[in-house]
Amino acid sequence: MRAVTWQGKRTISVEEVPDPQLQEPGDAIIRITSTAICGSDLHLYEVLGPYMSAGDVLGHESMGIVEEVGADVTAVRPGDRVVVPFTISCGWCWMCTRGLQSQCETTQVTEQGSGASLFGFSKLYGQIPGGQAEYLRVPHADYGLITVGRDLPDDRYLFLSDILPTAWQGVQYADVPDGGTLAVLGLGPVGQLAARIGRHLGARVLAIDPVAERRAMAARHGVEVFDQGDDGIAAIRDATDGRGPDAVVDAVGMEAHGSPVASAAHQLVGHLPDAVGQKVMETAGVDRLAALHTSLDLVRRGGTVSLSGVYGGAASPMPLLTMFDKQIQLRMGQCNVRHWTDDLLPLVEDPRDPLGVTDLVTHRLPLAEAAPAYSLFQKKHDGCIKVVLDPAQS
Ligand SMILES: NC(=O)c1ccc[n+]([C@@H]2O[C@H](COP(=O)([O-])OP(=O)(O)OC[C@H]3O[C@@H](n4cnc5c(N)ncnc54)[C@H](O)[C@@H]3O)[C@@H](O)[C@H]2O)c1
Ligand SMILES: [Zn+2]
Ligand SMILES: [Zn+2]
Repeated sequence: MRAVTWQGKRTISVEEVPDPQLQEPGDAIIRITSTAICGSDLHLYEVLGPYMSAGDVLGHESMGIVEEVGADVTAVRPGDRVVVPFTISCGWCWMCTRGLQSQCETTQVTEQGSGASLFGFSKLYGQIPGGQAEYLRVPHADYGLITVGRDLPDDRYLFLSDILPTAWQGVQYADVPDGGTLAVLGLGPVGQLAARIGRHLGARVLAIDPVAERRAMAARHGVEVFDQGDDGIAAIRDATDGRGPDAVVDAVGMEAHGSPVASAAHQLVGHLPDAVGQKVMETAGVDRLAALHTSLDLVRRGGTVSLSGVYGGAASPMPLLTMFDKQIQLRMGQCNVRHWTDDLLPLVEDPRDPLGVTDLVTHRLPLAEAAPAYSLFQKKHDGCIKVVLDPAQS
């Protein structure tokens, strides 16, 4: 089959690789109909290279049709239409039964000290082949597949795999009081959905992003938008009686614009041999912290900062004096995708599309065009906000 493979920093290619096979009785094989590129893929593309191997198959936002199931699989049959959550979880362990599927004790990557295995996500998360491919092997398929209806287009359902529950969890963790204010930093796909979810749940939402068309898209959904920089921060403070918003969702993560020192560290790590690069990641602060530090500065005293954006440095400096003095609550983590499915499925099927999932994809391209698609998404060229790759399109 054809698959999108990582070959080196900012180098990916579509290659012919062996078809995935059933390996365990709980596995299923899916034929992929849509597979998106995520901001998390951009971290692998840019800074997490030391944890990647040439030939790794990327992708963790996929859906399609069940082709084949192992002997123990009972919840899905060949022909079913399914979405694949990016966190691989068993559904029955201590963590899964407490709604912490991204910490699943059955799939944890203990040799790396990491939580649940993830599709297409480097040695840190189990090096499981991803779904930017024609076919995907899904372990723990009884719990690891969300069966969906036949009538609505893929774009309605696809984001149940990652960014919709990620944004939902980010807003739940932000714990905005009734009628309160939520600031969202970053209006990439995750920030877009977090902002709309905030509105849907009744908050006043103010968001910052340096990219004009991302601000324009959010404004279509009732979000008050601001450019990056001090003006945006001052404007949000002014709009919240000088106190700052009740909660902030950081939907940017470790590659924020406006962090010159850490940018140099990123360049360095990306060019070191793997073993040395991993050591730097594990011992030094290589995150670009502009968005996180803005979140902590912006939130009102006693408010909550919720990190949806991914951070990866082991010793990134944090303003603990401010955090303690302002009495800030901080929540974060990889999304517990399966925990939120029952809340979200009715919303994506609602004919009114209350979370606006059909107003997000700007580019639907053949799988074969993955390399230019990654570059387009990273550089934000051509108005690119969300890319979906289609293995059937040529
Ligand atoms: N927690 C999870 O389970 C989970 C799941 C999916 C994605 N993520 C993470 O969420 C983050 C966002 O993902 P995405 O797909 O939306 O990616 P993205 O890269 O498209 O979005 C980031 C946005 O932040 C903006 N930005 C950059 N610096 C900024 C700054 N200093 N202030 C304000 N805005 C700034 C960019 O212009 C961009 O629009 C990534 O870190 C990704 O890894 C986490
Ligand atoms: Zn993702
Ligand atoms: Zn589990």
